[in-house]
Amino acid sequence: MSFVRKLRASAKFPFSSVNRLAIRTFSGIVQGLPEAIGQTPLIELKSLSALTGCKILAKSEFQNPGGSIKDRAALSIIDDAERRGQLSPGGTVIEGTAGNTGIGLAHICRARGYKCVIYMPNTQAPSKINLLKLLGAEVHPVPAVAYTNPQNYNHLAKAHAERLGSNAVWTNQFDNIANRNAHIETTGPEIWSQTAGQVDAFTCSTGTGGTFAGVTRYLKDKSQGRVKCYLADPPGSVLYGYIKSNKQDLSDRKGSSITEGIGQGRVTDNLVQEIDLIDDALKIEDQKTIEMVYELLDKEGIYVGASSALNVVAAVEVARILGPGHSVVTVLCDSAHKYSDRLFSKTWLESKGLTIPDHLAKYVVLD
Ligand SMILES: Cc1ncc(COP(=O)(O)O)c(C=O)c1O
Repeated sequence: MSFVRKLRASAKFPFSSVNRLAIRTFSGIVQGLPEAIGQTPLIELKSLSALTGCKILAKSEFQNPGGSIKDRAALSIIDDAERRGQLSPGGTVIEGTAGNTGIGLAHICRARGYKCVIYMPNTQAPSKINLLKLLGAEVHPVPAVAYTNPQNYNHLAKAHAERLGSNAVWTNQFDNIANRNAHIETTGPEIWSQTAGQVDAFTCSTGTGGTFAGVTRYLKDKSQGRVKCYLADPPGSVLYGYIKSNKQDLSDRKGSSITEGIGQGRVTDNLVQEIDLIDDALKIEDQKTIEMVYELLDKEGIYVGASSALNVVAAVEVARILGPGHSVVTVLCDSAHKYSDRLFSKTWLESKGLTIPDHLAKYVVLD
């Protein structure tokens, strides 16, 4: 039986979906950069499977063309704006972001012929500003002020789009549910297909909440509620306390975290859609996260940032909760390249009070 037929037979998937996934994977040719987004491998983390007696599986989202999971959201948001008639050739895409979504948007804007305008706090590393500029974006580094201040970079991005009027869109990644829809339409189906439906739990952290909410929605629907979904949260984020208090308390924001791109002070529109589907929440301390950054490198040869490492720690905790014999899926959001100056620096680690176990100390190569 051909691979495609086997996949169709085993995945119990609507014919057309499996066909589309399989053909895109095996034909080898995609039409331009936007079509190269997604279809990432699901990597079994063998050392952690052996440790837990579960299958620990991670979507390698760092393999997207812009280098992160946020390429999916960026593409979905632009596709949605085009469908709604808000963007046409020569149009402008505006976002307030310091990170991966801006990179994804900048790539797609070049590929589709749009102007990309990014507002970000001026406290961000010059390398981030330069990367966006060299991808052709117009970058506005502005004073870092609280969200409640009208001069906050998010509000300035929105105002910029309003000033331009027609053929301009403020992508609004936190509350634009085209973000979550990217994961209902791609990440979730890929996980289901790649595991042939043999998935027991999903866990990941949230920034906008798009990834967690979209994958959770898809896997819950597809499994009729069987797949358990756990929200993983870093210190300083309110969501762990919110879920543990049965959605009563949004004020517990104790601590702070070395992770970037995750942690929230509110329930975004992307997350609120699926908040009732969440089975439980886990809080992951930075010390465990940093050790996992190094363990993944040492045992698996995988070089990822702190949000990915936190997700993997959460997957191991979920495996322990469920017991041996289960499959737990998470995501590797981006690689460690952007963060290497910090994550592998002795001085930086000391400044954060983090320690690296002796057997991994050889990877601390920067002073
Ligand atoms: C490195 C990294 N990890 C995780 C996330 C969280 O993804 P989401 O916004 O889908 O919740 C982000 C979001 O920007 C990110 O940049």
